[in-house]
Amino acid sequence: MCGIFAYTGKQQALPILLDGLTCLEYRGYDSAGIYIPESGVVKSVGAVDNLKKKIVLPMPGNSGIAHLRWATHGEPTEENAHPHSDSSETIWIVHNGIIENYKELKEMLLTKGCTFYSSTDTEVLAKLIGYYMEEKKDFEKSVLAALNDTKGTYGMVASYKNEPNKIIAARQGAPVVIGLGNGENFVASDVSPILRHTKDVIYLLDGDVAVLTPNNHTIYNLQNISIDRKTEIIEWDIEEAKKGEYAHFMLKEIMEGAEVVENTIRGRLIVDEGIAKLGGLDAVAEQIRTKKRIIIVGCGTAYYAGLVAEYMIEEFVGMPVEVEVGSEFRYRKPIIDQDTIVLAVTQSGETADTLEAIREGKRKGALTLGIVNTVGSTISRETDAGIYNHAGPEIGVASTKAFISQLTALALLTLFLGRQRGMSSSTGKMIAEEIKKLPQKIKEILDKKEEIQKIAKKYANSRDFLFMGRKYNYAIAFEGALKLKECSYIHAEGYGAGEMKHGPLAMIDENFPTFAIVPNDSVYEKNISNIQEIRARKGKVIVLTNEDNEEIRDMSDDIFIVPKTVEMLSPILNIIPLQLFAYYFAIERGLNVDRPRNLAKSVTVE
Ligand code: AGP
Ligand code: GLU
Repeated sequence: MCGIFAYTGKQQALPILLDGLTCLEYRGYDSAGIYIPESGVVKSVGAVDNLKKKIVLPMPGNSGIAHLRWATHGEPTEENAHPHSDSSETIWIVHNGIIENYKELKEMLLTKGCTFYSSTDTEVLAKLIGYYMEEKKDFEKSVLAALNDTKGTYGMVASYKNEPNKIIAARQGAPVVIGLGNGENFVASDVSPILRHTKDVIYLLDGDVAVLTPNNHTIYNLQNISIDRKTEIIEWDIEEAKKGEYAHFMLKEIMEGAEVVENTIRGRLIVDEGIAKLGGLDAVAEQIRTKKRIIIVGCGTAYYAGLVAEYMIEEFVGMPVEVEVGSEFRYRKPIIDQDTIVLAVTQSGETADTLEAIREGKRKGALTLGIVNTVGSTISRETDAGIYNHAGPEIGVASTKAFISQLTALALLTLFLGRQRGMSSSTGKMIAEEIKKLPQKIKEILDKKEEIQKIAKKYANSRDFLFMGRKYNYAIAFEGALKLKECSYIHAEGYGAGEMKHGPLAMIDENFPTFAIVPNDSVYEKNISNIQEIRARKGKVIVLTNEDNEEIRDMSDDIFIVPKTVEMLSPILNIIPLQLFAYYFAIERGLNVDRPRNLAKSVTVE
C-alpha cells in the first residue's frame, strides 16, 4: 500500500524527502507529494520525477513529510494526491491504508461546516485532526483524538506548520518504521529510505503513536500511555531492504497471501447476513440484476481466475458464463448485446488485449465491469463499474498475490450476484464464513513452505511437468503450469485430468512428473483414477490434496496437504503450494524469478 516518508533534523528536508521517495518507488505508486512547513506543499500525478519537475522554487525547511500513493479511494489525481490538510491548511498528513469509517466521519465533519477538496478517505482524517485542533489547541492531543475515532488501517505521519520540527507518526495495520539519527529522525513505510542515514530503527506496532523532534522521540499508545519500543540495528543493504526479509519480491508477494485476502474482503463481507457489499457496483447494481449472461475476459493468470469464476457463478448464481482470452475475444465476432455483462479481470488494468475486449463489449452495448488491482488504470476508468482488489502493488512479474485477490474478489462477486438472484441466506452465510476463514488457512499453508521447497529441489532437474486437475481446480492446473513455465522456462502443461486418456497420457514416463491437484471434493474418485493411470505408466506423481489418508499417500511419490474449505474456494488454497513450487524450482535452477526472461509485468502491447 505504497509509501510514506518524513524527516525532522538539522539538514534541509527537501533533498532527503525526494531521495526517500525514490527509494520507495519500488512499492508502486500512481501519484506523489511533499509538505515542508516553512515552504508549503507540492503534489503530482505519476512518477516521482514529475514531482521533482514541479519543484521550481527553493523549499527551505528542516522537516517535512512525503508520500507515494497507491490509490484506494479516489482516482490518482493531483487533488487526491497526498499530503492532505485540515481546513486551516496548517496540519498536513500522509497516509497508507484505508480509513474504513471515512464516510461516517465525513458526514459528521460536513455538519460542522467542513468542506472537502478531494475524494480520498485520507483527507477526512486530516480534517478530523483539524476539527479537534480547534477544540484542544494541542497538536499531539488532536492527532490522538482523531485516531481514536478512526477505524481501518493507517501508517500515517502528521506535520503542523506552527510546530515545524515536530512530526507525529502512528501505525495501525500498515507498516511504520522510525529511523533514529544524530540530531535528526525519520519515519518511513520500510527501512529502504532510512538506511542511508541510520541503521538504528524502531518498528512501530499497531496502536503505537510516535512523536519525533530532531533530538528526541517518544512513543505512546492510543490511550496516551507511554510505551518503550526497542531499537534495532539493520544489517541489510539498501537493495535488500526493499524486499524486507525476503530474497525476492515473488516470495514476498506469495507470503502476503493472507493479508491480501484480508485487504480484498475488508469492509465488503457481511458474514452474519451472508452478503457481499461491493461499493464499486452500487451505481450499476440494478442494471446487473437484469443481465442474462456474463463474458469474463482476461489474459494469462487473470484468464485462469476467470475460468474459476465460471464454475462459481454457474453453480451458485445460475447465470451462463463464458470465459475468453482477451487476444482471441477481440478478433472474433462475439455475440454481445445489452443483456450481456463483459467483466475484465486484470492486475495492471493496462493489458492491451483485455482493454480492447472491454472496448468491443462497450461498442456492442454490454455493461462492462472490471476487477482491477491498479486504481485509476485505463481499464478501471473505461469500464462502467468495478471492484478494486486492494492487493497493493505487485512487483514480481509472475502474478501471485494478485491472483489470490482476483479469486477472492470473484468469490465476493458470486455472493453478490447470488443474493441478487435467489441464493438463500444460509448458502450466503456458508460462503461468507468460509471466505472469512481463508487468511488463517493460507497462513497454515505458508508455514509449511519448506515442505514445498524440498519437493521443488527433488524435481528441479525435470525438463517437463504436467499439472492436472478437475472442475474448480481445472484452471489451477493451468495456472500452476504457467507459473512454472514463466519462472523456469521449462515445458509445463496444465490439463484437465479427465482429458489425459485422450492423448496427453502418451507423454508420461518416469521422466515426466505430474502435479495432481486432488482435493477431496465432488470429483475426488475420478482424480484418484487419473493418478493411477499416471503411475501405471511409471509417471511420478506429486499429490496436492486436503485429504490425508493411507490410500492417497500410497499412490503419491510426494504429497502436500492443504486445509479443507468449500469446493468453490479450494483454488485459492491450492494455488499457493504451486506458486511456492514454481518459486523454489526456479531458485534451485539459479534463475531470476522477479524478472523472468522475455516477459514484462504489464503487457500493454497487442
Ligand atoms: C502471470 O504470472 C503473468 N505475469 C501474465 O500472464 C499476466 O497474468 C497477464 O499478462 C495479465 O496481466 P494483467 O492481470 O495485468 O492484465
Ligand atoms: N486510502 C488512501 C488513498 O486512497 C491511501 C492509499 C495508499 O495507501 O497509498 O489515498
